[in-house]
Amino acid sequence: MELELRGITKQFPGVLANDDVSLTARSGKVLALIGENGAGKSTLMNVLSGLYRPDAGEIVMDGVVQSFGDPGDAIEAGIGMVHQHFMLVPVFSVWENVVLGVEPVKGPGVLSRKEARREVREISERFGLAVDPDALVEDLPVGIQQRVEIIKVLLRGAKVLVFDEPTAVLTPQEVDEFFGIVDELKGRGATIIFITHKLKEALAIADDITVLRGGKVAGHADPKTATPEDLATMMVGRDIELVVEKAAATPGEEVLTLHGVHMLDDYGRAILDHVDLSVRAGEIVGVAGIQGNGQTELVEAITGLLPLAGGKVEFLGQDITHASPRQRHAAGIAHVPEDRNEMGMVESFSVAENLVLDSYYAKPFSRRGVMDGPVIREHASWMVEAFDVRPPLIDNTGGALSGGNAQKMIVAREFSREVPLVICAQPTRGIDVGSIEYIHEQIVKKRDEGKAILIVSTELDEIFALSDRIVVMYDGRIVAEMQAAETTPTEVGLYMAGKAA
Ligand SMILES: Nc1ncnc2c1ncn2[C@@H]1O[C@H](COP(=O)(O)OP(=O)(O)OP(=O)(O)O)[C@@H](O)[C@H]1O
Ligand SMILES: [Mg+2]
Repeated sequence: MELELRGITKQFPGVLANDDVSLTARSGKVLALIGENGAGKSTLMNVLSGLYRPDAGEIVMDGVVQSFGDPGDAIEAGIGMVHQHFMLVPVFSVWENVVLGVEPVKGPGVLSRKEARREVREISERFGLAVDPDALVEDLPVGIQQRVEIIKVLLRGAKVLVFDEPTAVLTPQEVDEFFGIVDELKGRGATIIFITHKLKEALAIADDITVLRGGKVAGHADPKTATPEDLATMMVGRDIELVVEKAAATPGEEVLTLHGVHMLDDYGRAILDHVDLSVRAGEIVGVAGIQGNGQTELVEAITGLLPLAGGKVEFLGQDITHASPRQRHAAGIAHVPEDRNEMGMVESFSVAENLVLDSYYAKPFSRRGVMDGPVIREHASWMVEAFDVRPPLIDNTGGALSGGNAQKMIVAREFSREVPLVICAQPTRGIDVGSIEYIHEQIVKKRDEGKAILIVSTELDEIFALSDRIVVMYDGRIVAEMQAAETTPTEVGLYMAGKAA
């Protein structure tokens, strides 16, 4: 199915999200759609999937102009959207999720539940997806949940598959497997649109590349000849330093110390296994590891979100093992959380409110229990400017921000606190190359001001770009610790895979 978008325009209050966008996606090919945070990628795909009505423009499939009144129309026409945030019901089985919502769809998409189970198995086998129809979604790793989403759209007869940042949450191995699935889909003639911020991925998998900037098409690139630098320049309109400049660290006193920190999961298994770790003032410690090896729990142990089964957490020499998350926050621990939608922001609050989410009750934002509106607004205006949150409209809701801009807002809030310890979990997930450069510079600046920084990242590039010292987590344990300057990505990668002794 050849898909053509002609002159798509979509306006939100104060923002022209798509401005006369035209592009073509070919049958049996992958079109990578790239662009800065807020460039209009997700909006364009929401127009394509019938979620938004465009103000102008046409969607043309195999030469036929379409008119989508709602997502049901788009599904019926063969558009399959795999969203940035999965929309599965965790307590349902795979097959229940797959049939969910099909009932109201008119026409050929209607399925009986009995059939569904058989068809899930059949599609899973045909595309080599290895998904058990009876498994509970909440028990499945993210990579498999994504396959459930893929089965869901394939069952509905999708000819055009849209993936909005599918690899942001995958492990390197899952990314490889995902690319295998994409190849399989291509081979069967599917038209694939792939949104990513990882330029190397776009170059590796795409047949065509379209770059959006400020809602407009900035240009097209040929993946056979383009370099990551070329793409970055097209996206941002300037040259990007893909590596951060930084001097050697001068570590000072110990700010954070973990002694034998132990944590158990619901089944009594160790998810943190006697972890010892220290972070000093003026150094960046990077925690490397494949997702799911205890890094999330490590951060929860430090920020107080989960109780320990044993061990001790010390902050500036004080035992904070039993302090509440709020007490730790107030004591001086900043935290950029891994899951920005669940923990980092309130979507219905304004940007200004989100920027003081956990400090509105204290000086200078409140005096004698009364919030100071002008101070909060001035602070917000300054921060959206400094961290390039776009659009810089502090009265818009947090939920109206694009994925990457929401993340920038959270980083801005946490980094504006003058505190001794900053914990950053996946600080640049979903962030475009230009903003990654800026956030990395800010992290190094914090270090040079003498703050202790702990970075947890599944991106080895990011670990190496920032860390002075690297620890590797595997199976709930710290299996290696080294100076960044004395190791290589290959060596760290081996530890991450549990292969080095
Ligand atoms: N529901 C909405 N209401 C108001 N503005 C919106 C809404 N959805 C998106 N926007 C705005 O439209 C613009 C484009 O957003 P979009 O989500 O399409 O960006 P994106 O390219 O997907 O970015 P990212 O890489 O950060 O995900 C942004 O300025 C965003 O703030
Ligand atoms: Mg987006």
